[in-house]
Amino acid sequence: LQTREGWWTTFVLYHGCCMDRQAATSVSLARAQFVPRDDDALLATYPKCGTTWLKALAFAVANRFRHRVIVDGAGAGAGDHPLLTQSPHDLVPFIELPFRHNHPVAALDAIPSPRLLGTHMPHHLLPPRANELGCRIVYLCREPKDVVVSTWHFMNKVIDGFSIDFDKAFELFVDGCSPFGPIWNHCLGYWNKHVEELDRIIFLKYDDMMADPAGHVKKLAEFLRVPFTDDEVDAGVVEEVVRLCSFAKLSRLPVNSSGVVDRSSGRPMENSVFFRKGEVGDWKDYLTEEMAKKLDAVIEEKLKGSGLTF
Ligand code: A3P
Repeated sequence: LQTREGWWTTFVLYHGCCMDRQAATSVSLARAQFVPRDDDALLATYPKCGTTWLKALAFAVANRFRHRVIVDGAGAGAGDHPLLTQSPHDLVPFIELPFRHNHPVAALDAIPSPRLLGTHMPHHLLPPRANELGCRIVYLCREPKDVVVSTWHFMNKVIDGFSIDFDKAFELFVDGCSPFGPIWNHCLGYWNKHVEELDRIIFLKYDDMMADPAGHVKKLAEFLRVPFTDDEVDAGVVEEVVRLCSFAKLSRLPVNSSGVVDRSSGRPMENSVFFRKGEVGDWKDYLTEEMAKKLDAVIEEKLKGSGLTF
C-alpha cells in the first residue's frame, strides 16, 4: 500500500482512501465478513461530521414506538429512554469497528432487523452486497473548515502522544490526508450515488440540520419509513426528539460526560470525546483568512460540476 505522512502515524492509501493501517485492516475485514441485510439502514458519515448526533436522532425516530420520547416530562417513563443511559455509538454500532478491535462480528449479526448501523467507509468501499441488496443509506457531511477543527481536537483527545499542531494538521487535511480522506472524495462518492438513487440515499449536511433540526427529523423519519403522523406532530413528538438528541441534552448525561466506557462494543474510548462544542462556524477561531480561502478554493475545485456545495 502506498504510504503518506499521517496525523499521528503513517497513513496508507487503501483504494484511494487515507487511513491508518489498523483502519485499513478493519475496513478490508468488514468488506469481506460483514453480512448486510436488505432492510439495514446505514448511517454513513465522514468522521466528525455529526455521526453521534445522527445516530441519536435515527435511533430515537426509529424506536419511538418502543421507547417513548419524553425528555423532562414528569412520570411516564421519562427515565427509560435508552439514549438517556447509553451512548449513541453503543445503540448504533459501526460496522467496521468490531474488526478494528478483534471483536466478533456476531455482535452485529445478533442485532434484530431492521438494523441501524454506522460507518465511516467511503461509498466505494462499502461491502458490495450492501448496494446489491439495496440497503438504504443516510449520509451526513459538514462544512470542511469545521471538520478539520473538530478532527484535530478529537485526535488530541484520543491519540496518546498526539503532537502535531493545528497548522500542520490543516496542511495535511487540505492535501487530502486525514482519516478517511480526502473529505471531498468521501462526500462526492455518496453525493454521486445519491443523485442516481434519490430514494435509496439521502444526503444531509450538519449545518442545515442545525438550522432546521425538526424539518430534518421529519425527513429522516420518512426516509426510514416511519413517518410522523399528524397526531404525533400535534403532540410535539418531533420537538421532543430534537430536544432529547440535542447537544445540550446528550452531552450532559452522565453516560456521555463522565467517561463511561463500554468495552463490549469494542470501542475503548471515553464517550465524552464525541462532544465538544457542537456549533457551526467554530473554524473562525482557528483558521486565518488565508487558510479559509485556501481550503474553500480546494473544495470548490474538487466539487466543481457535481452540484454539491458547502
Ligand atoms: P465539534 O468538535 O465541532 O464540537 P462525530 O459525532 O461525527 O464524531 O462528530 C463530532 C462533532 O459533532 C463534534 O463537533 C461534536 O461536538 C458534535 N456533536 C456531538 N453531538 C452533537 C449533537 N447532539 N448535536 C450537535 N452536534 C453534536
